Amino acid sequence: MMFRKAISFIFVAFFVFACTRQHDPRAYWAQYKKERLDSAVQAPKLNADGTIPEVKTEAKVASSPGDAKFESLCVSCHGSDGAASGPAALAMNPRPRNLTDAAWQGKVTDEHIAMVIKNGGAPYGLSATMPAWGAVVNDSEIADLVKKIRSLKK
Ligand code: HEC
Repeated sequence: MMFRKAISFIFVAFFVFACTRQHDPRAYWAQYKKERLDSAVQAPKLNADGTIPEVKTEAKVASSPGDAKFESLCVSCHGSDGAASGPAALAMNPRPRNLTDAAWQGKVTDEHIAMVIKNGGAPYGLSATMPAWGAVVNDSEIADLVKKIRSLKK
């Protein structure tokens, strides 16, 4: 009799334990709390005087007329410094041209750069990953982009 009681107690205890483990909400609470604290830490803070802190980007340092277009159209691949060092660039094959490269800057003409921007890489034997921007930017904006690219030279 004692033995059967002990066995059924063990079974019941096991099932209660198994069920509560499975539905134990404490792990979720802990995760929730951790994420809430993490997000509070990363939240951008205002300056002490209540003004919005200035975001420092490379592009703001060097200023040229093509800046805005370059920021919106080109940085996703070429990077704001033009060195194609971003995560998307690392995944591309071939990598986007490192526009800061002085040797490359020395051997291409402004006309060539303008044509590649206008018609994309493919017509010039370059990667088709370099899109054609002719439908997006006009010739004077392309001229500004060429100046911008020249200003990236290191
Ligand atoms: C989708 C990614 C992508 C975007 C966006 C992009 N490019 Fe490119 N670009 C490339 C890749 C990849 C190459 C390298 C092609 C090669 O070497 O075969 C390249 C090459 C170039 C070159 C070098 C051409 C040469 O002769 O080596 C110039 C100049 C250039 N891009 C300018 C721009 C400008 C200006 C913009 C924005 C209007 C832009 N790119 C946007 C991917 C991109």
